[in-house]
Amino acid sequence: MRVNRIAGLVFGAALLSVPSLVSAADAPAAFTLCKACHSVDAGKNGVGPSLAGVFGRKAGTMSGFKFSDPHIKSGLTWDEPTLTKYLADPKTVIPGNKMVFAGLKSPDEIKSVIEYLKTLK
Ligand code: HEC
Repeated sequence: MRVNRIAGLVFGAALLSVPSLVSAADAPAAFTLCKACHSVDAGKNGVGPSLAGVFGRKAGTMSGFKFSDPHIKSGLTWDEPTLTKYLADPKTVIPGNKMVFAGLKSPDEIKSVIEYLKTLK
C-alpha cells in the first residue's frame, strides 16, 4: 500500500516533467538566447511575448502582450522570409521596436530557430 503510494508520486512527478524535457530537447542551441525573454508555452509572456503559434501570425496581434506601436504597425506576417530578415536584424526590420536583441549572425542558426518556431503550437 505504502509502496504503491510512493510509486504513484514518483510516476506523477515524471509525468509533470515530460513537457519541459521534450521542448528542451527540440530547441536548437541558438534558441537559448531567445529563452531569456520568450516562453514557448501559449499565454506565458516574459519580457517578450510567448512564441507559441507565432509562425504564420501577424506581428503584434497576439492578445495579452503589450507590443510597441512600431511593432503593431509593421504589418508584417511571420513567415519564413520575414523571420529570416527579422531574426538577423530586428532593429532594421522594425525601427523602434522593443525587442532588445542584436540578431543572430549565422544563417544556419536562423534556419534552425525558424524550423523550431514552426513546431510551436
Ligand atoms: C531581450 C529580450 C528578447 C530577446 C533576447 C529576444 N526577444 Fe523576441 N521579442 C522581445 C520583445 C520585447 C518583443 C516585442 C517587440 C515589440 O513589441 O516591439 C519580441 C518580439 C518577437 C517576435 C514577434 C512576436 C509577435 O507576435 O509579433 C518574434 C517572432 C521574436 N521576438 C522572436 C525572437 C527569437 C527567435 C529570439 C532569439 C533568436 C528573440 N526573439 C530574442 C524580446 C526579446
